[in-house]
Amino acid sequence: MPDPLTTPAAELPVRRLGPEDLDRCLALSEDRAWGREERKWLFLLENAEVYAIEAPSGELAGTVTLTRYGTTAAGIGMMLVATRYGGRGLGRRLMTHVLDTAGDATVFLWATELGRPLYEKLGFETLGVTEARVGRLRPGDDPVLTRPADLGSDLDADPGFDPGSDLDALLALDAEVFGADRAALLARLFAFAEQVRVVEDETGPTGYAVSWRAMNNMLFIGPVVAGDEAAARALVTDLARDADGLVRIEVERTRPGLLDWLGERGVSQAFSTSFMVHGGRPLPGDRTRLYAPMMLAMG
Ligand SMILES: CC(C)(COP(=O)(O)OP(=O)(O)OC[C@H]1O[C@@H](n2cnc3c(N)ncnc32)[C@H](O)[C@@H]1OP(=O)(O)O)[C@@H](O)C(=O)NCCC(=O)NCCS
Repeated sequence: MPDPLTTPAAELPVRRLGPEDLDRCLALSEDRAWGREERKWLFLLENAEVYAIEAPSGELAGTVTLTRYGTTAAGIGMMLVATRYGGRGLGRRLMTHVLDTAGDATVFLWATELGRPLYEKLGFETLGVTEARVGRLRPGDDPVLTRPADLGSDLDADPGFDPGSDLDALLALDAEVFGADRAALLARLFAFAEQVRVVEDETGPTGYAVSWRAMNNMLFIGPVVAGDEAAARALVTDLARDADGLVRIEVERTRPGLLDWLGERGVSQAFSTSFMVHGGRPLPGDRTRLYAPMMLAMG
């Protein structure tokens, strides 16, 4: 195995990882003080393309994930290079690899301040700033305005799979808003989720949102798809009602009303990332109804 300390980055092999590589991914995350996000890494290893450069010791020198939504769009995440291999072109090598793999898709990512200079060099443009908010959400005395989605039986566990009455409607709604095919991924997310809730009018579901457990039992909320901000708040409130701990949600700065409301309810701790798109390409879908992404690593 070539040594990243002595081999030019352009000559280093990039390998696709699988669930069996979980421990090595966790070790790399810890090296960059990102924490052991075990459930999230496993979800990515099972449902996204995870690429890595390996060191002769067997450790990972760097990783990046690519989540392809048909041929229309693709999200990049988990761009990590181990501290001892930093500044040697591994980040550029990995990013160039996934950009080539993504082909003609519109490629997007959320960048930390450490990552942004590299992405700018490779042709990404910043379209906005997203705040990751963490806190204990106080539901106040809001009434319950949403209901649990009927998603039928577990796709993996039940050979006589019953799709449930909401599945088709939620997938169709999501396709309209996200603008690219993520039906298979959403089906996996619904199985992984703590809760999926729906808002509706007389025509059927007009919004939905998902909560899922991550590191330290924190409850992540996303995606949130809604017709207006009041509906988005209702979905978030109802998902967080029984959270029993911290919740996390990512919201763009172009939604100050929602951010202020989260702050008033106690979800105020934040860090921000830049939302970047490659080559100034247009994003598909109707993003006005996308109030929060599924997860920053995927879109
Ligand atoms: C961001 C990160 C992946 C960069 O990896 P890296 O292997 O050190 O980057 P490279 O050596 O490939 O750098 C590629 C180019 O970007 C530039 N660059 C990288 N980081 C930079 C920084 N913080 N400031 C300015 N320029 C930077 C390099 O100068 C280099 O330019 P060149 O190719 O024209 O010479 C790495 O620092 C890291 O893992 N950081 C912690 C985790 C993180 O924040 N990841 C980003 C998540 S969005």
